[in-house]
Amino acid sequence: PTTPLICPSILASDFAKLGAEVAAIEAAGADWVHVDVMDGHFVPNITIGPDVVKALRPHTSLPFDVHLMVAPVDPWLEAYREAGADILTVHPESGPHLHRTLGRIRQLGAKAGVVLNPGTPLSVLEDVIELVDLVLLMSVNPGFGGQSFIGSTLKKIERTRAMLDAAGSSAHLQVDGGVTAANAGACVAAGADALVAGTAVFRGGPDAYAANIAALKAA
Ligand code: DX5
Ligand code: ZN
Repeated sequence: PTTPLICPSILASDFAKLGAEVAAIEAAGADWVHVDVMDGHFVPNITIGPDVVKALRPHTSLPFDVHLMVAPVDPWLEAYREAGADILTVHPESGPHLHRTLGRIRQLGAKAGVVLNPGTPLSVLEDVIELVDLVLLMSVNPGFGGQSFIGSTLKKIERTRAMLDAAGSSAHLQVDGGVTAANAGACVAAGADALVAGTAVFRGGPDAYAANIAALKAA
């Protein structure tokens, strides 16, 4: 089986030491840095603005995988791209014109992702699949770290994998929320190739990051 890309969510890191935290996960074997952007409107929490992303950019050479939980999202794409985002992932509910939003992301030179909430049907992907470099399936309802993995996501991963393969898409299939070494293997077996993990990476502090990441890769 393929080894998944591990994308630690810095939401679970020490916000007083963010620069050191992104450097530490790079040294510990992380593949991407997952940045959860929340606006207190689309989701009930407020987190990381573009200036924070910009400040972090010199502290790691890993790709910045920016998950935008912001509505409306279109006015923020350029700011996060200029701040150093490599991937910009948007929820279809965060604007009226998903096709245009994805085109705009690619026009800015970033990879374009679409993220589906647990209650959002896979069918929203059908007519934009050629514009998508990454599909993110939420395995919790977004807004907070530390929630439990929703088991029905595994079937949705399988259905998404089938849809991507049928379309000849090489888009990444990423899972986010409650991912641990106990369910990572099932996610990859179902067809995921990238795993977001907050709690499961940052628990135990910097000395534990390498083992935590290795456990997710091996699962
Ligand atoms: C939820 C975020 C996730 C979350 C993951 O809204 O999108 O990235 O921080 O954290 P854990 O792994 O702790 O569920
Ligand atoms: Zn996320």
